[in-house]
Amino acid sequence: MSVIGFDIGNENCVIAVVKQRGIDVLLNDESNRETPSVVCFGEKQRFLGSAGASSAMMNPRSTVTQVKRLIGRRFKDPEVQTDLKIFPFDTSEAKDGGILINLKYLGETHSFAPVQILAMLFSHMKDVAEKNLEMPVVDCVIGIPSYFTDLQRRAYLDAAKIAGLKPLRLMHDCAATALSYGIYKTDFSSTGPTYVAFIDIGHCDTQVSIVSFEVGHMRIVSHAFESNLGGRDFDEVLFGYFVAQFKEQYKIDVNSNIRACIRLRAACEKLKKVLSANSEAPLNIECLMDEKDVKGFIKREEFERLSSALLDRVCIPCKKALADATITVGKIHSVELVGSGSRIPAIAKLITSLFGREPSRTLNASECVARGCALQCAMLSPVFRVREYDVQDSNPFSIGFSSDEGPIRTPSSNGILFPRGLSIPSTKVLTFQRSSQFHLDAFYADPNELPAGVSSRICTFTIGPLQGSNSDKARVKVKIQLNLHGIITVEAAMVNNIHFHAIFQ
Ligand SMILES: Nc1ncnc2c1ncn2[C@@H]1O[C@H](COP(=O)(O)OP(=O)(O)OP(=O)(O)O)[C@@H](O)[C@H]1O
Ligand SMILES: [Mg+2]
Repeated sequence: MSVIGFDIGNENCVIAVVKQRGIDVLLNDESNRETPSVVCFGEKQRFLGSAGASSAMMNPRSTVTQVKRLIGRRFKDPEVQTDLKIFPFDTSEAKDGGILINLKYLGETHSFAPVQILAMLFSHMKDVAEKNLEMPVVDCVIGIPSYFTDLQRRAYLDAAKIAGLKPLRLMHDCAATALSYGIYKTDFSSTGPTYVAFIDIGHCDTQVSIVSFEVGHMRIVSHAFESNLGGRDFDEVLFGYFVAQFKEQYKIDVNSNIRACIRLRAACEKLKKVLSANSEAPLNIECLMDEKDVKGFIKREEFERLSSALLDRVCIPCKKALADATITVGKIHSVELVGSGSRIPAIAKLITSLFGREPSRTLNASECVARGCALQCAMLSPVFRVREYDVQDSNPFSIGFSSDEGPIRTPSSNGILFPRGLSIPSTKVLTFQRSSQFHLDAFYADPNELPAGVSSRICTFTIGPLQGSNSDKARVKVKIQLNLHGIITVEAAMVNNIHFHAIFQ
């Protein structure tokens, strides 16, 4: 049995595997190490990954990208609505308030939930891994952003299970990166912890974690994020700039034409990458719309000026992570910059001025999450032996509970059962005096910790019916766990040491 790490990002997926002699990143059918997170539904067949990306222009309305943005989200969430405006596929509200993606496939109309699309991607990545390794792939660890809610985590697990995978852990992206950094390093000080800041700027988000390393041990001290700031936002700046320019210069409204929008967005992304290595870049698109060829040009300075508001926002999660860790910049030993969105030179400049030192690029920016996940999988799998290494991750959001009788307070908790920063996994036992079945509601206790627009409600557990109670009010013990995936579960409920059921809703 193999041990695998998956990074299923908003734009790209990476698979890593631990072998006896080290970690390998697996190649897809096109011999690439990254696979686009795309599912394209054609007239005759479905195209996944790289094939999906190549067929996207042929089926613009039936190509689903950026499913990470939709997974476990509610249709009416204002941020979802903002995203949906720029996605070319049609969507509607599902009966449960979730999202349905409506598209044409094999000549018929179909509706898919984001979890189904994600399952298709997982299944494709599983196939790629199995082809490479010539053996079944089941056990895995999957990277997720630290800002994912309980619902989003459950949806990732569901999608992986639909694809026939068994996730041993959902691991926060920065924790995976930190593991792939720390496990091989032997030069940590023996006199105290070494603090490292990990900054991951991806396609749609920015995550920052401060991690403390000691020999044989790593601990996440703080997690911070900006869930709406990644490479795609910089593409959008260029897109807006050229839409306005072409309106004036060529009298065309790119926004009115889906294909033209897709082509201009793709060209802007390329242009942005060219600007990472050059001080200026041209943009040429043949027959963009109305049979007009368009030409544009931009200097890096101008691009940086246009994106100055976005650049300023990169600092926010960095400062927050430091503040939460109660650590000053001077104590940071190294700043590790990862995620391909971080390749914009102005970002490195900004981080240099914030931390007073240049960020290092010791790690492979696009592969470190998958590599860390593969390592964690090897550590969790009974079939693989790796060196002893302790990974201590922390809870990103404070979690509270209430019952039919009001908020649950324990003497030390102030209404919060699992505070932010608590190590994961963690278990608490609550005791109730009850005569019949009752409910427990789990909720995020501080809306300020959550990404904007996210609901505080986590889930409701029904405890009971209370068998084995022969008095009016029985002592009911409920064991609640914040598990390794960062998901809240009721592990056990007992009356007089007799177990009975708890139902999750
Ligand atoms: N040379 C470059 N210069 C600037 N940006 C780049 C460069 N190369 C890639 N990018 C950008 O990096 C982003 C993709 O980064 P990455 O692959 O880390 O994202 P992801 O892991 O799929 O997304 P996320 O982590 O948000 O889920 C894209 O926006 C892409 O345009
Ligand atoms: Mg990523």
